[in-house]
Amino acid sequence: MSKKKPEPTLPPRERAFLVGVEFKGRRTILALNDSLAELALLADTAGLDVVGELTQKLDRPHSMTFIGAGKVDELKALAEETLAQVIIFDEELNPRHQRELEKIFGPDSKVRVMDRTGLILDIFAQHAHTKEGMLQVELAQYEYYLPRLTRQWTHLARQAGGGGGRTGSAGGVGLRGPGETQLEVDRRAIRKRIDHLKAELEKVEAHRGRYRAQRKRSRIPTVALVGYTNAGKSTLLNRLAKSEVYVADQLFATLDPTTRRVELPGGTTALLTDTVGFIQKLPTTLVAAFHATLEEITEADLLLHVVDISHPNALNQYESVQITLDDIGAGHIPVVTVLNKIDRLHNPESAQETMRRVPKSVAISAAQGIAIKEMLLLLHQELYEAFIPVEVRLPYQQGVLISLFHEMGQVERIEHGRGGVLIQGRIPGRLAAQFKPWKAKKVVEIEDGESE
Ligand code: GTP
Repeated sequence: MSKKKPEPTLPPRERAFLVGVEFKGRRTILALNDSLAELALLADTAGLDVVGELTQKLDRPHSMTFIGAGKVDELKALAEETLAQVIIFDEELNPRHQRELEKIFGPDSKVRVMDRTGLILDIFAQHAHTKEGMLQVELAQYEYYLPRLTRQWTHLARQAGGGGGRTGSAGGVGLRGPGETQLEVDRRAIRKRIDHLKAELEKVEAHRGRYRAQRKRSRIPTVALVGYTNAGKSTLLNRLAKSEVYVADQLFATLDPTTRRVELPGGTTALLTDTVGFIQKLPTTLVAAFHATLEEITEADLLLHVVDISHPNALNQYESVQITLDDIGAGHIPVVTVLNKIDRLHNPESAQETMRRVPKSVAISAAQGIAIKEMLLLLHQELYEAFIPVEVRLPYQQGVLISLFHEMGQVERIEHGRGGVLIQGRIPGRLAAQFKPWKAKKVVEIEDGESE
């Protein structure tokens, strides 16, 4: 308070009004109010001030306006009363809902309508820093907005066509063809930009693939940090690797994977990768757009699932992450669960109770450095001492893997076939990812070109 400076740099925060819907019979991870509280946090992270909220219980979404006509009137009155500038639905609106609601609230009343996905996309756009992250977010944004394009969004098309994107130009918008409306021209520009972004991403992904292959060859096991947004993943990585990964009490502060080398007890090492935080109702478009980042998870030897145990919905968040892990094809990877932020618990005993319920878990405080050694020991045990059962069919060309199994694993059964060898036995957890492509049930094609 000593030097009183005006704040000309901070743009005024927009006023947001939230809308939540509870569908009868739908099973959700969070209850309506908790989900709305999370939406409010997301809005805050995106730089919005929440000025009110409205909820409705429905059997199914209204075909035109998502919520019922009476609720729309109520919402309109409340939005006017609170001077809201943005209305945010805690659901994914389909393009038709979006258009109908915009007809009611925009463009004259100047109130924008958006949904949870659009909001998350905005936050992602603010937080992506690497080339890959920016390409992924931009692609997700265009794919999301293309079917929703109305005149309200023409600035997007201008950006797409005019080279306004942060990652380079895809070329000009082009002239309007015979009978083409401006909207059609805009869509064309966006489609062109999408193709360009996809091509760019392929190049970046190929590079990442080569880098990952190199890491694999180095035989140092990789551990991916996963967890609900704000659980403390970056704080933990910083503590372990003394690195300067950005930590903030914001949702989705980390978007770009960062990998650090970490020493484990007994002189062993692991590569630890921080990844994007998860959230319930994570939009499928986003999951698809981030598939390269998520590969850091699906290719890991072990997952370190960080849970904010001090959060009132810790177990729901835990469950939500487990579901997403299954969705992205990482359900088979061994997991160590870290119950973080125990320094914030009034009753630390409750962590003990959770630990009993969650297998292979350890309670820590990343910020205060509590029980970090125990956690590292558990990691070491899982990676270097715990053996997992596998059955693989390896073609003879995979001689390196065949001898690796003999060297490091415990062979219980072996059958030599014409094209390869079937091995059943146990391998250290850290080697799981290397043998994964050859799992017997999945890959049975081991013929070497000869007919059966
Ligand atoms: P995303 O980037 O959203 O995925 O978040 P993250 O999981 O990387 O969380 P981050 O490390 O950015 O931490 C989020 C907030 O929790 C920050 O304000 C941290 O200082 C705080 N935090 C992390 N660990 C602890 C802890 O052990 N105790 C306490 N009290 N706070 C913690």
